[in-house]
Parts: sequence; C-alpha cells; structure tokens
Amino acid sequence: MSKKHSHYDVIIIGAGPAGYASAIRCAQLGLTTACIDSWRNKKGQSRLGGSHLNTGGLATMTLLESAKIYHQFNQEIAKHGIHVDAISMDLPVMIQRKDKIIDEIGLKMADLFAHHKIDHIQAKARLLNARQVEVTALDTQAYSILNAEHIILATGSSPIKLPCATVDNEFIIDSITALNLQEVPKKLAIIGAGAVGLELASIWNRLGAETILLEAQENFLSLLDQQISREAYRIYCQQGLDLRLGARVVSAKKINRKVTVDYQDQEGNHTLRVDKLIVACGRKPNSENLAAPEADLLLDENGYVHVDENFRTNLPGVYAVGDLTLIGPMLAHKGMEEGLFVAELIAGMHNPLNYDNLPCVIYTEPEIAWVGQTEQALHAAGEAIKIGIFPLSATVRALAMGKTEGMIKIIAHAGNDKILGVHIIGTQASELIAEAVLAMEFSASSEDLARTIHARPTLSEAVHDAALALKQRALHLPPGK
Ligand code: NAI
Repeated sequence: MSKKHSHYDVIIIGAGPAGYASAIRCAQLGLTTACIDSWRNKKGQSRLGGSHLNTGGLATMTLLESAKIYHQFNQEIAKHGIHVDAISMDLPVMIQRKDKIIDEIGLKMADLFAHHKIDHIQAKARLLNARQVEVTALDTQAYSILNAEHIILATGSSPIKLPCATVDNEFIIDSITALNLQEVPKKLAIIGAGAVGLELASIWNRLGAETILLEAQENFLSLLDQQISREAYRIYCQQGLDLRLGARVVSAKKINRKVTVDYQDQEGNHTLRVDKLIVACGRKPNSENLAAPEADLLLDENGYVHVDENFRTNLPGVYAVGDLTLIGPMLAHKGMEEGLFVAELIAGMHNPLNYDNLPCVIYTEPEIAWVGQTEQALHAAGEAIKIGIFPLSATVRALAMGKTEGMIKIIAHAGNDKILGVHIIGTQASELIAEAVLAMEFSASSEDLARTIHARPTLSEAVHDAALALKQRALHLPPGK
C-alpha cells in the first residue's frame, strides 16, 4: 500500500478504464489523487487496469489474436502458397503470452500513475461517508481511513451468476476462467450469445473446440441493425459455430467429468453432454460492500448506483462512473469518458458527454462495429431514411487480404442527408468505425463522406463507396446495385 497522504482532493475507488482514466485526468488538473484497487494477477501481484484489461475485453482480444493466427495457418496459409508441414498448438504458452501482454499493459499504467504522482493504493476500499474511505491492506489487513474532498466510485462489474448453472470453474466456468483453459475442450457449450459469449466462441471454435451457443432469445443480437445481425448469424454458422436460438438453459450439472446441460426451445426439452460449459449471461455492477450501510449510498434493486446526469450520487461530492451505473451500455471507452468528465467537473469544467455517437464493437472475426441508430429503430420512429450498402467483396484491399466477408451500411436522413447510423461487419470493423464516429460527431452528411478522399487501396474505401452507394453512384458496383 503506497499511501503518501491521509487527505486527498480526489480518491477514486477502482482502477479499471473509468477509474484509471479519471485518476490521470484529475492529476493533469492539479488535484492530489489516490486510486485504490485490490486487483491481483495470477502471481498475486497488484495490477491496475481492472477486469477489462486483466480478464475482460483486452484479455479476450489478446487471446483471439493467437486463435486467429492458429486458424489462419490451419485453414488459409496454403492459399498464399505457403506450406507448413505440421502445425501444433501449445495452449499454455498461448495463455502465458496473453498474461504477459496484459501484465505489461498494467505495468505501463503503473508507470503513468507514478509520472502523474497518483498514489496507487493496493487495498480493499469501502466508502464510509461522503468524505471518508476505509482502506484495508491486502496482505496485512491493516486498516486505515483516508479523507477526500471528492470520491469517485469506479468498481466496474462482474459476470452474473446463473442459479441453474453453478460455476465451479472446473467444468462449469465463467468468462474469466474461459480465458485460462489449459486444454482445448473437445465439445464446448456457451450459455448466452451476447458480446462475451460470441467473443469466447470465436476463440475456442478457432482453436478446434466444437462450440455450441445456447441463446434464450429468438432474435439474434437483437439490439444491432437486423441486416447486420442476419449477416453475422450466417457467417458464424458458416464458420462452424452451432448457434441455437430460443434455447433457454434450465439446468447444468457436472456428471462423470462432463457437463449435462438441459435446455428448452419451441420443440421441447433437450439434453447436451459437453466437456466444458461457459456461462456468459451478462454482468452486474460491483456494488456489494462498496459502501458501509451507514453511508446510505443509494442503489437500485439490481445494485446499480443511483446517479444524476452529472454522475453525482445521493452523497454530496461522491460520484459513480462506468459499469456501476445504468447510464449507457457496459463499455470500457464509455466508462473512460465518464471518468474524464467527472474529473473535469470536479475541477470546475463542464464538457458535456455525447452518447449519440458512442461506437460499439463485438471483437469476433469478422468484427462487428456500429454507431448511431439502426434501420429498424429509424423506421419505428417514422424517419424518412436512405441507405447505402457496400460489400467488402467489392473492395480491392479486402480482396488482397482475402477478407471479403461483410459489408458497410450507412443510413442517412432522406431530407437533409445527415448520417444517422453506420453499421459494419467485416475485418477491422473496429478501426473502420472511427471514421463514421468522427463524421457523425461533426454532423456530417453522406455527401461529406462521399467527397472525402480515401487512400487506395485501403479498407476505408468501402466506407467511401457505401456513401456513394447511398446516391446510387458507387464506383465499384454495377449500376442499380
Ligand atoms: P449480454 O446480456 O449481452 O448477453 C447475455 C445473453 O445471455 C443474453 O442474450 C441472454 O438472453 C442470454 N441468456 C441469459 N440466460 C440464459 C439462459 N438461461 N439460457 C440461454 N441464454 C441465456 O451479456 P454479455 O455478453 O455477458 O455482456 C455483458 C456486458 O458487457 C454487456 O453490456 C456487453 O455489452 C458488455 N460487453 C461488451 C463487449 C464489447 O463491447 N466488445 C465485450 C464484452 C462485454
């Protein structure tokens, strides 16, 4: 515990994306800042970054990079005229690489904290009242109280437990253990086809597991633009994912070193026998024991911290950001922006946050990324719209890369041409969406995108052509398409 003061301008509880970004901004603004976090890595060392870095999005993406390479060598390398006699996989080394990379990122964050003179206090914290935090050291359990003018709660979220599938982390596992398996399961089932379930499926399917996704909803990725969801469903199935929709798991039990999973769909009851079962059914805010009962911090019935539009809790000077509140989706970059916003608010600034242009990404391969509104939502709202769609199969760079699956879809207002939504499925969609986010942030029209020069050959030419397609003048599509 490296505590240098007993009084700070700002104490932040939690060093995930929302917390660490907020700490850095507070320090930049000249506020004495402490960030308290209890995260420990596999070796028992304290690390910054929270679950997003250590066991969530970043860890998942790091492992997916290895899975993609393995899959490419197995399935695609011969097309490049490259022959490799035998490919084999050392999964423990793959996992070690992931651990090493996330460890390095965590250490870089610690370096940044040191440069900004932020006290990283490695301890368990509990809010006592609007000005005080109780701190318990991880090793010695030594207990102390710190004071602050402002306190920011940023403790994030953790996987929801499903009563019918108790996680033992040997056979029935959560999304954290799912990134640390030492052997590829022969047959794997995943409960939940949300972002977490799909990203994990993308990894283990590529590494050779027969992968079955059981999703209670009939409508696949229901919040996405439905044309993109349908395309995603088609591509995932083609990749060998066994996606069962309308399949509600009612029981899962370990029997004879396998898992028996019972689920129901329209046709009745079914039973599966698998080697491992991953539970990926959503996340809940980490608000248990965050505040002493006498602090009277207001939570809702699901544990979300109640905040106003400026992230103020019911306690004066206490804020909550990121996954802890019900504002917006559970996304690392959304939490980071909220952390920055609150730091600036404390320093007397007010730079409003715009959630309308929040990019969302699902890190499968191909990736899915979107910003703004969907076609179905705009139709439901009675908006007059026009749509431009461009397939990656008509993009020269995608052809050169051999990554032709997917499309770019741009939706603009039929009257004023303002871009209302951009939806992408395809390789590097997470990078391509940035152009659309910026365009929308500046209230661009589709004509603005169409008149912007895009480098050739790049994947971003597909964005350009989609904007042109909206006006029936795509360069690389036959007339009328
Ligand atoms: P989710 O709520 O998106 O998906 C969970 C799915 O599990 C739901 O579709 C639900 O219908 C299904 N389900 C629940 N109980 C079931 C049962 N008994 N049988 C079958 N299906 C069942 O939750 P997920 O994927 O765990 O993600 C949690 C949060 O984290 C979300 O807010 C997500 O947006 C965020 N996240 C975002 C990522 C990204 O942006 N790339 C990556 C990972 C998470």
